Amino acid sequence: MEAKRKIAIIGASLFQEALILKASEMGIETHVFAWKTGDIGESLADYFYPISTREKDKILARCREIGIDGIISIGSDLAMDAVNYIADKMGLVGNSLEATRISMNKHWMREAFAANGDPSPKSILVDMDTDVSELPPLEYPIIVKPTDRSGSRGVNKLESPEGLARAIAAAVQESFEKKALVEEFATGDEYSVEYISYHGRHYMLTVTQKFTTGAPHFIETGHIQPAPISDELKEKIRKVADHALDTLKLENGAAHVELKVDAKGNIKLIEIGGRMGGDFIGSDLVQLSTGYDFVGAVVSIAMGDAIEEPPVVRDVRKVGVGFITQKADLEQYSKIKRKHPDSIIKDKVDRRIILKDDPTNIYERCGYYIYEVRE
Ligand SMILES: Nc1ncnc2c1ncn2[C@@H]1O[C@H](COP(=O)(O)OP(=O)(O)O)[C@@H](O)[C@H]1O
Ligand SMILES: [Mg+2]
Repeated sequence: MEAKRKIAIIGASLFQEALILKASEMGIETHVFAWKTGDIGESLADYFYPISTREKDKILARCREIGIDGIISIGSDLAMDAVNYIADKMGLVGNSLEATRISMNKHWMREAFAANGDPSPKSILVDMDTDVSELPPLEYPIIVKPTDRSGSRGVNKLESPEGLARAIAAAVQESFEKKALVEEFATGDEYSVEYISYHGRHYMLTVTQKFTTGAPHFIETGHIQPAPISDELKEKIRKVADHALDTLKLENGAAHVELKVDAKGNIKLIEIGGRMGGDFIGSDLVQLSTGYDFVGAVVSIAMGDAIEEPPVVRDVRKVGVGFITQKADLEQYSKIKRKHPDSIIKDKVDRRIILKDDPTNIYERCGYYIYEVRE
């Protein structure tokens, strides 16, 4: 019998579940690396290694011993750092270290956008040594956020200079590199665009509408896919996103482009992840709404196999994911569950978690539900 091909998966959380299951289904042996916490991936994997995502060289050494044929992750930017580092060292398919460096740091990303004519809010790099009275005049509202975190940690919107120094200190505190951005506030509706790229050719799969708690912290409360937008806007979004992916040199695998569209149809990029959108967007929603096996395709690319070009995406159904972070969300979920129980596709709610009235980051959730949107 021919030996099974092997894939390394970085991270063992719920978001990796779809990846592990898909790779197994494709007949690939799964080797999962993550900090041991009892996550689902630990038991789903053929082989589990309790090594933290940050220990890139330790993971690399094991990957060489195992002789992996591909490496991948759905989740965080931190995981993508390890994925692309190891892919680079072992000559596997991924994105370049340069692309990884830029897309993991919101400041480098803004610089790259500005240099290449991509529409992006004005942004100033600050740290604890910045004298706020010396900043150039700012037009409020503004956004203050860490350069290198995720999940809306340390993000704040300010309507006036009052509290600026405090907001900067909070964002710097959250930042790994102890730096933050003070940015022009982009107005309008928020969307993400789900992409697959192959050898530098970009294919937009769908546009997702994002819902948040709004100011000041912008915690994601849910997503709807496909977003209810005109074909004209969709084409405009495609142009901006295609160009921005080239700017960031993201050439292989999934990408998640976040942007806002104001009342006049002007687009501003928020940020781009060189990976699938988390929050079940990449792992579940894309296939449910388009019929496209997104997870299978990114596994194929990571394994060095070809994908179908262009990918075939259809309009299968409208789906959403809702997160339960506030009491009102729990009521909304209970209502859908009562009225249209058959519209719930997948859900997990831990009612023991006490809901706060004003959550400050996505980790204060007590559950999620994926559902078919019924108009
Ligand atoms: N310049 C900006 N203008 C308007 N809203 C912004 C801006 N930057 C961030 N936001 C809001 O804050 C959220 C989180 O910021 P983001 O840069 O995406 O960080 P994270 O890595 O935490 O997702 C965004 O989804 C958006 O709602
Ligand atoms: Mg974001």
